[in-house]
Amino acid sequence: MINVVSITGSYRGKKSLSSYCVDRVIETLRTAFKTSLTSSQFDPKKNLISDCVGATTCFRRGKCSIRDDMELIKKKMEEADIIIFSAPVYAHGIPGVMKTFFDRIAHWTHLFHLRGKLCIILSISDTNGNNYVSMELQRYAEYLGMVVVGSIEIKTGILSNEGIDSILRKKVSDIVTRIKNKNWSVSQNQEESFHSFKKVYLEGLGGSEAEHNYWRSNLCYFNTYSDAFNNQYNLDKNVPMEQPFSLEHFLSE
Ligand SMILES: Cc1cc2nc3c(=O)[nH]c(=O)nc-3n(C[C@H](O)[C@H](O)[C@H](O)COP(=O)(O)O)c2cc1C
Repeated sequence: MINVVSITGSYRGKKSLSSYCVDRVIETLRTAFKTSLTSSQFDPKKNLISDCVGATTCFRRGKCSIRDDMELIKKKMEEADIIIFSAPVYAHGIPGVMKTFFDRIAHWTHLFHLRGKLCIILSISDTNGNNYVSMELQRYAEYLGMVVVGSIEIKTGILSNEGIDSILRKKVSDIVTRIKNKNWSVSQNQEESFHSFKKVYLEGLGGSEAEHNYWRSNLCYFNTYSDAFNNQYNLDKNVPMEQPFSLEHFLSE
């Protein structure tokens, strides 16, 4: 079973093109993987994502004090194999609600908490600014610990629905090939920040007690971030035994 979670940054619900693109991506992944795939989709129209109030409880105690749908979203992200971030382009940046979403999980950026998960990025504009949003989402995904396996930029103002569908099918097919061939790796930035964080937590140079405990129990014994990521990578194990998730298996299909 492959578990996909998507976070969409549009308030436009069923009218949202960002949600439309997520639906198409999930549909294509489901067909391509030929195994059961479960998905949970979150957006600000359905889910309450309150503003961060700056209490810093998350950094100090490892838990946010606000009670809203972020608790469920966080749990679902922890259980996911693949996470999709889909954002409309607002003034060449991500929409405010998406920034709020990242603020609410900012403490995870000190912990590489989403290591082992793959991320797919979608930026949806009218005509321009996708590159800024893609870069922004990539930065968040990497600081959260994920490996970005694909970034798709859609300009809805210059494409028909058929044009959008065709780009999505092609891009997702490339992403599936990358995943099946394990043609991805952690980034140089992730390795570098892993080593500087590890030094901080091993030598007691800063950070909260909650962060120290997390690093000492989960991360400090890995020599590289690549080892830490691969140790947590579950996609292979999540595929049922009768359909082994191996390169040979997929090449024979
Ligand atoms: C406040 C705001 C700012 C926007 N800024 C841009 C922009 O910088 N470049 C662009 O091409 N489209 C811009 N758009 C258009 C949206 O990116 C586009 O309509 C997108 O498809 C909306 O996604 P959605 O349907 O998922 O809500 C903006 C729209 C809004 C509401």
